[in-house]
Amino acid sequence: MEAKDKIKKIGVLTSGGDAPGMNAAIRAVVRSAIFNHKEIVGVRRGYSGLIEGDFLPMQSHSVSKIISMGGTILKSSRCPEFKEYDARKRAYENMKKEGIDALVVIGGDGSFRGADALCRDFGIPVVGIPGTIDNDIYGTDYTIGFDTAINTAVSAIDKLRDTADSHNLVFFVEVMGRDAGFIALNTAIATGAEDTLIPETPTDIDKLCEYLEFERRNNKTSGVVIVAEGDDLGGASDVAKMVKDRIPHYEARVTTLGHIQRGGSPTCSDRVLASVLGYEAVNALLKGISGVMVGQMQNKTVYTPFAEACSRHNEVDLKWYEISRILSI
Ligand code: ADP
Ligand code: F6P
Repeated sequence: MEAKDKIKKIGVLTSGGDAPGMNAAIRAVVRSAIFNHKEIVGVRRGYSGLIEGDFLPMQSHSVSKIISMGGTILKSSRCPEFKEYDARKRAYENMKKEGIDALVVIGGDGSFRGADALCRDFGIPVVGIPGTIDNDIYGTDYTIGFDTAINTAVSAIDKLRDTADSHNLVFFVEVMGRDAGFIALNTAIATGAEDTLIPETPTDIDKLCEYLEFERRNNKTSGVVIVAEGDDLGGASDVAKMVKDRIPHYEARVTTLGHIQRGGSPTCSDRVLASVLGYEAVNALLKGISGVMVGQMQNKTVYTPFAEACSRHNEVDLKWYEISRILSI
């Protein structure tokens, strides 16, 4: 029997950190499944809901008006228990009891590790959709939520600039990105930040101070330094303190943008990406494709095996770091 006939009921869940556009992806999965005459069940709270059998049968109207909403109507979780085989076995048994023959997982690389394990342990078809603001997943040019997050950060930093200029201050602004500098680098270029500290490159605090002093001599009276939370020197407040220790006359302020970057109504780009990937994920399952993440690279749908999507990472282009610096002299 072909996969499109074998699969009668599809499950969908969101896992890991929430990202704007996850709802648009849920909507696309639900409606594409219904279009193909399949039943569709939402799993609440990611892998926790799978282990507990927390299921929500969904219809077309269940996803009405959610395309513009941030967060995830299915809720999300970090569920360390899922790393254990016994927990995954309970999840699989719950899926069988509910009649779920295939699963769509919307999340980041951690979620795909879980999806890969579920697929390998029990041979159940699973397809992933990249949903994380970090944009660090291999196999897609952009992840769902990244565009919204950088736009949120840019609008916040534009506002901070007003105060920086009015009071001759240097703002150290911490953005998210534990392992990746995509959010930092993009917002730095878009806001004309004076410097950017990212996890991918070691930060030399004396060089940063020299650079800030050079800019002061160049008639700049204020500045913005973007610090990715995963920088090797620490967060924005650690960096601000180190700078203050070296240049005591500097008036510095620290702002951590935090979880506002994960919230809010998704941008047009995130809604479109989420809709296309949701549609493609269901189509992949019905074509018998499993154990992969669906992504978009140069406007084409690409399938990347979970193992590869988890073990490799999208790399920031360090030339962008250079461009950002040159344009902020
Ligand atoms: P993200 O998906 O955003 O990267 P996490 O790294 O927190 O977020 O992963 C989400 C969830 O995926 C974890 O809470 C856990 O349930 C599951 N997970 C992560 N790593 C593994 C693993 N090695 N094996 C099984 N499940 C995993
Ligand atoms: O992966 C998304 C992300 O927002 C990272 O940028 C950040 O390091 C992490 O999640 C924060 O996780 P939590 O909300 O669990 O503190």
